[in-house]
Amino acid sequence: MTEHNHDHDHEGHEHITLVDEQGNETLYEILLTVDGQEEFGKNYVLLYPAGIPEDEDVELQAYSYVENAEGTEGDLQQIETDAEWDMIEEVFNTFMAEELFTPHNIIVTGGCGFIGSNFVHYVYNNHPDVHVTVLDALTYAGNLENIKGILGDRVEFVHGNICDAELLDKIVPGHDAIVHYAAESHNDNSIANPEPFLKTNVEGTFRLLEAARKYDVRYHHVSTDEVYGDLALDDPAKFTEQTPYHPSSPYSSTKASSDLLVRAWHRTFGIRATISNCSNNYGPFQHVEKFIPRQITNILEGLRPKLYGNGENVRDWIHTDDHSTGVWTILTKGRLGETYLIGANGERNNITVLRDILTVMGKSPDDFDWVKDRPGHDRRYAIDSTKLQTELGWKPTHTDFQKGLEQTIKWYTDNRAWWEPAKAATEAKYKQQGQ
Ligand code: NAD
Ligand code: DAU
Repeated sequence: MTEHNHDHDHEGHEHITLVDEQGNETLYEILLTVDGQEEFGKNYVLLYPAGIPEDEDVELQAYSYVENAEGTEGDLQQIETDAEWDMIEEVFNTFMAEELFTPHNIIVTGGCGFIGSNFVHYVYNNHPDVHVTVLDALTYAGNLENIKGILGDRVEFVHGNICDAELLDKIVPGHDAIVHYAAESHNDNSIANPEPFLKTNVEGTFRLLEAARKYDVRYHHVSTDEVYGDLALDDPAKFTEQTPYHPSSPYSSTKASSDLLVRAWHRTFGIRATISNCSNNYGPFQHVEKFIPRQITNILEGLRPKLYGNGENVRDWIHTDDHSTGVWTILTKGRLGETYLIGANGERNNITVLRDILTVMGKSPDDFDWVKDRPGHDRRYAIDSTKLQTELGWKPTHTDFQKGLEQTIKWYTDNRAWWEPAKAATEAKYKQQGQ
C-alpha cells in the first residue's frame, strides 16, 4: 500500500490518497493518528473513506507508519500484531467517548418563545443533571408563562437582550454551552419592518459568538430550512446540508447571515459550534401570528381563516417535541463545525392543512377567506434529514401529523387564556396589511 497526495481540504480535514497493488486510488480522510512510538516504535492512522454518503456503512482502515524526515507519515504498512490492534481500539474508544459532549450548565436564549421553551421543558424532564439559564428579552413573542411551572433550582430566568455584551460578560462564564434560539422569527413581520431582524438575528448572534469565544463555551445555533430558499412544487428534490444558501425574505436572509457568522467563527477562531436547520414547527405554545395557530384561534373566535395566494405553497411540518430531541442530539453527539438538517417528512400544502383544521373543528372545508399573497412567498420547503438520522441516530417520534394537529387544536381550545391577550392586536396588524 503506497500513499501520495497528502493534503488538507477547505474545512481543514487531512486527506491521503492510497494506491493498491492494482494501481486503484482511493481518497481517505485521517480520522485519528495514534502515537505508538513508546510501545511499538511506530505510529498509526485511522482512515475514513472521503466523499462517502453519510448513510453508507463504511469500514475504517488502520495502518502503521514510521515518521519520515519531513515529519509526516512515511509509507503506510499493514498492522501486524494483536497487541497493536488492542492499543488502537482503546485509543479509538477513548476518542469516541470524548466526542460525546455532556453539558451540565447551559444557557438557552429565547427560552420563553415557542420552540426554545419546548427545549427547556425537554431538558428539565429528561436530563436532571443539567441546569438551564434562560436568557430572553420577552419581546411580543416571549411569554414567561411558557416556563413558569419549572422555574426553580434547575431552571433560572434572566430577563435580557442577546445584543447586550455586558450582560453576556456577567452570565456566560461558568456555563458550558449556549443553545441559541432567540430570534425575530416571523416572515410577515420582517417584510413590514426588517430592522429588528438585523439587530437580533445578526448582531445578537455576533454577540453570542464573541461571548462563546471569550469564555470558550460550546455553541449550538438553531436555524431554519428557509436559508436554502425554496423548491419548485413538482421538484422531487429536498434540501440537504449541501444545498447552496439562497434566502428569499428579510427574515431568512438574516438567519442565513447568522449561520455564516457561526461557520466563520468556527473556522477562524475555533469556536466549538454546530448548526441545525429545521423545517416548520407546529404544536402548543406557538404565537397566534403563525399559520396553524392563527387559523385555529380564528375559528375559536368566530373569525374566518385566511389563506395566502392560491394555497398551494408547501411546508414540511415537524412537531416541536421532535425539534427539541434533534437539537439535544446534535449538541451532545454532533461533530463540531457540522450542520445537521432536522425534518420529519411532513410535506403538505397550506390549503390541505387549513381544510384539515376546518374539518376537525366541525366547519365546512371551504369556510375561509382567500387573502393577498405574501410578497416573495417561498413555494415549497422539504428537508432530507438522512445525515442526522444515520450519523447521530436521531428519529422523529410524532410522525402522525393528523394526530399532532388534533392535539394542537385541543390545546388551543383548552388554553384560551394563554393566547387571547395577543389575538386582537395580531389580527389588527394583519388587517392593515390586507391579510
Ligand atoms: P418565537 O418568535 O416564538 O420566540 C422567539 C423568542 O426569542 C421569544 O421568547 C423572544 O422574547 C426571544 N427574543 C427575541 N429577540 C430577543 C433578543 N434580542 N434577546 C433575547 N431574546 C429575544 O420563535 P420560535 O418560532 O420559537 O423560533 C425559535 C428559533 O427557531 C428561531 O431562531 C427560529 O429562527 C428557529 N426556527 C423556527 C422554526 C419555526 O417553525 N417556528 C423552524 C426552524 C427554526
Ligand atoms: O421553515 C421554517 C420557518 O417556518 C421558520 O424559520 C419560521 O420562523 C416560521 O415562522 C415558519 O415560516 P413560514 O413563513 O413558513 O410560517 P408561517 O406560519 O408564517 O406560514 C406558513 C405558511 O402559511 C406560509 O406558506 C404562509 C401561509 N400563511 C400564513 C399565515 C400566517 C397563510 O396562508 N395564511 C396565514 O394567515
